[in-house]
Amino acid sequence: MTIDKQQQYDQLFQRLDALCDGESDPIALMATISCELYHQFESFNWVGFYRNVGNRTLKIGPYQGGHGCLTIDFDRGICGRCARQMQLLNIPDVNAEADHIACASSTRSELVAPILNRHGDLIAVLDIDSDTPALFDRCDETNLARIAAYFLI
Ligand code: SME
Repeated sequence: MTIDKQQQYDQLFQRLDALCDGESDPIALMATISCELYHQFESFNWVGFYRNVGNRTLKIGPYQGGHGCLTIDFDRGICGRCARQMQLLNIPDVNAEADHIACASSTRSELVAPILNRHGDLIAVLDIDSDTPALFDRCDETNLARIAAYFLI
């Protein structure tokens, strides 16, 4: 039996609710969320967080997949753009974006979401990369906003 994407997200949230219950450490949340997202969706080829460490700099945080760049300046990459604009970016074709940083040459599309704490400060961006062109849709966008809510602590 195949299940649709929203059902897959619903399964994911059931597990995350149980795993993250009472957890307020952002790194523990990032590690658990990146692991669960990566393993839930076959077409997610890299899932990870870049943490805002100040000085307009993002540093690699917990992730799953091949190695990612260690440091991304706010002025570089889709992740940097997300950090600057503090808004979700759905990129259907990374090769059409001059500022894309290709950590893996196989990446074709990506979805990057700002992660804020309850004070509205940017603590990280969540980056999901896929080898499939134009993978992400409204369903992924909506569910990523739900993921971001785990950090409103
Ligand atoms: N997606 C990125 C770079 C990070 S890696 O792909 C893991 C970007 O252009 O911001």
